[in-house]
Amino acid sequence: MITTATRIDVKKVTKSRLSELDMKNLTFGRVFSDHMFVADFANGQWDEARIVPYDKMPMSPSTSALHYGQTIFEGLKAYKNDKGEVLVSRPWANHKRLNISCERMAMPIVPEELFMESLSMLVKLDKDWVPSVPNSSLYIRPFMFSTDEYIGVKPSETYRFIIFTAPVGAYYTAPIRVLVETNYIRAVEGGIGYVKAAGNYGRSLFPTQLAQQRGYQQIIWTDARNHRFIEESGTMNVMFVIDDILITPPLGDTILAGITRDSVLTLARDWGYRVQERKISIDEVVDAHKKGTLQEAFGAGTAATIAHIAAIGFEGRDYELPPVEERIFSNRVSRELDDIRRGKIADRHSWMLKV
Ligand code: COI
Repeated sequence: MITTATRIDVKKVTKSRLSELDMKNLTFGRVFSDHMFVADFANGQWDEARIVPYDKMPMSPSTSALHYGQTIFEGLKAYKNDKGEVLVSRPWANHKRLNISCERMAMPIVPEELFMESLSMLVKLDKDWVPSVPNSSLYIRPFMFSTDEYIGVKPSETYRFIIFTAPVGAYYTAPIRVLVETNYIRAVEGGIGYVKAAGNYGRSLFPTQLAQQRGYQQIIWTDARNHRFIEESGTMNVMFVIDDILITPPLGDTILAGITRDSVLTLARDWGYRVQERKISIDEVVDAHKKGTLQEAFGAGTAATIAHIAAIGFEGRDYELPPVEERIFSNRVSRELDDIRRGKIADRHSWMLKV
């Protein structure tokens, strides 16, 4: 039976590293806050829940996650409001998605109480690491991996669940140029594209490297059958504004159910904007560009929130998009999301958790 750990032991750092941090010059993903949460799964239950100083972990070379990839993760962010209170964005949605990943990867689920309590305690303890400068936030990384010291191929019987946090600045510092990928694929029907599994990211690195050598920052992934229908952009969901309609590929087993994706669609619908979750082909995008109706294209993800697309490379041509200043929808949605997260306007969908 899977039960929640009953209590969380806390061992604090003897000396905080916070004074070494330059809050005004944050990049993404290299600096980590003082503490992390750890729990271990064995004998059918989560146990030994603890908050400890962020540190390296000893690991056996035969740890099964290193060989067969039972490794999943989540990403979410915390912000500060004007009163200095800390607000975490949509943790319930991340918990739900984590457990969807668990099921597909034959891993044990994390009970909601354990996820929410550990996350709240950790963020509260390291609240001074939450930046309040514009374009910065505390990135929260929950993840789980198998820990059996065994190299036979089968689901592990033991797992570790960890949450650590990182003060971060912007993921992309400028609009990105993306290349439509028509050779490699990210996900296939029946596969794990909808899961936040490490392997989805590992497999993307080589094609992305090839695109980067050609002057693009990211790839636009297309469907595995014909390479015509657009799926995602790099590590993000992708959206287009064509003729004042917001269009994004529909969810399915090849596309991650992005929480930022959902937030963007929800706000668009709140405003009465026309929204279409439907298949969109690269031919349709190119056609709209030719007609002058392709107004905006952007990636939506936790790390970047909104990543404006400057140009789309396809079949040897670069299709340049209008300047970012002219993009009415994506600028508005980016501003409104930021205002909700920093408590500047009403949290009308109850997305924020005050810790
Ligand atoms: C996201 O933006 O949601 C991501 O998954 C990016 C992360 C892998 C850094």
